[in-house]
Amino acid sequence: MTTSPIVSLRAVSKRFATVQALDGVDLALRPGEVHVLLGENGAGKSTATKVLAGLEAPDDGGIVLDGDPVVMRGRADSIRRGVGLVSQSGSLIGGLTLVENLLLTHTSWFARRSTAVDMLHRAADAAGITLDLDTPAHALGVAQRQLGELAIALAQGARVLLLDEPTSALGPHEIGGLFARLRQLAESGVAILFITHRLSEMRQVADVATVLSHGKVSLHGSVSETDDDTLLRAMTGELPPRAVERPHRTVGPVLLRLAEVTAAGPERVPLRSVSIEVRGGEILGVLGVAGNGQRTLAEVAAGVLTPSLGSVQTSRDVAYVPETRSDGLLPDMPAKRSAVLRRLTEPAFARLGVLDDRAAGRFAAELFDRYDVRPRDPEVPAALLSGGNQQKLLVGRELDGAPRIAVLHGPTQGLDVRATEAVRTEIRHAAEEGTAVLLVSSDIDEVRGLADRLVVLFDGRVADQFDAADFDATRVGRAMAGLPTTAADHQ
Ligand SMILES: Nc1ncnc2c1ncn2[C@@H]1O[C@H](COP(=O)(O)OP(=O)(O)O)[C@@H](O)[C@H]1O
Ligand SMILES: [Mg+2]
Repeated sequence: MTTSPIVSLRAVSKRFATVQALDGVDLALRPGEVHVLLGENGAGKSTATKVLAGLEAPDDGGIVLDGDPVVMRGRADSIRRGVGLVSQSGSLIGGLTLVENLLLTHTSWFARRSTAVDMLHRAADAAGITLDLDTPAHALGVAQRQLGELAIALAQGARVLLLDEPTSALGPHEIGGLFARLRQLAESGVAILFITHRLSEMRQVADVATVLSHGKVSLHGSVSETDDDTLLRAMTGELPPRAVERPHRTVGPVLLRLAEVTAAGPERVPLRSVSIEVRGGEILGVLGVAGNGQRTLAEVAAGVLTPSLGSVQTSRDVAYVPETRSDGLLPDMPAKRSAVLRRLTEPAFARLGVLDDRAAGRFAAELFDRYDVRPRDPEVPAALLSGGNQQKLLVGRELDGAPRIAVLHGPTQGLDVRATEAVRTEIRHAAEEGTAVLLVSSDIDEVRGLADRLVVLFDGRVADQFDAADFDATRVGRAMAGLPTTAADHQ
């Protein structure tokens, strides 16, 4: 026997200009159930959550809440009706703390700040989350921001939780913790919708799955009764290609070197006396739970941030994919502008400081083809591309033309299976061309599959390092969690 849903989409359609983002979608979220929503980039997953959260109005079809048709009149209305959202792009206001962000949504509810602090503490405690309530959101790591949004949603009294790719920046211990909370919340009667690209993750936490493909539901079923190949086929229409192993090669001279670098960056944790070297043709993987100094390390390596101590050898020819992709794009301009951003000083694209629009358009069209950026329209403002497509554009632009050094922070973050493979192939290709690659990621499998050597950052320090051949998942998991790494303990 199944319980009746708290909220459902009924035959919802939504069109944006030329794209049919949702096409007759049915989706029912039941209390006690974790429902995973799968699909390639651009399949319509975020749009479906936005419709449920009152951020987009359906063109056709509607929403049923507690058995009755409703119209969600914006976000404030959906919050009042108990729909909590942890959005893909994040909805916290950067300059404000978590407490202030909560106050902002409910000015009338809380006479005093202390009430808000209290509610947020209680919500976080109940969900087993530790939060820094008084740091401005922009200074929190991605993981803390996401957990902060989750706590805010709970403090707002959510009965339905919509989580749009909440795990892309978390490490295995944090993901395990989050999943335990989600299960607890589900058991207390909350309905949870969870978006991820990682099938193994989905199997840990979800009861039922819905797959979207080009805006249509292509599969719906219980997770335990559906195998991975069936899900992948429903997502892509075919099985995605397997990655090829990268042959071991001799590597070139050291191109990127940080020696005893101490730096205070955007994270709460500074980088403390970190030394790394990356040779031409080599991929150095940096693992760690978001917020342990990786972002600062990436910024120093990319030459964006100057350390307070230590020395840095980098290059002007450095490709940089920052953790927050919007930092690398011109959101309001046609996407072709973002596509040529690295090339603006080249005569092919700019004469006397004036951008050659047609050359930019041709370059962008080729890049869009190579990286399968959808829609194939370089005139669309970059901000209107879906998150995954923005990422494809950014990585493609940066890796184009074999840069001397590439600093890639979460380059496949939020990408679907097919796009992920395309990006990984380009990273391998760059290394083969002699680029020194610093790959920062919280995705262990990704780093393991690509890197020649690995370092693990914890609390701003190198907690462990080893060759890819000596990879040991338990050891890495422990280092990422700040636990002693067994045996010799490296002293
Ligand atoms: N505000 C918008 N304006 C124009 N197109 C949009 C807008 N939001 C989403 N889209 C398009 O709708 C499609 C579905 O996007 P989205 O729901 O974000 O996909 P997903 O979350 O599955 O990656 C994509 O092609 C995207 O480019
Ligand atoms: Mg999305």
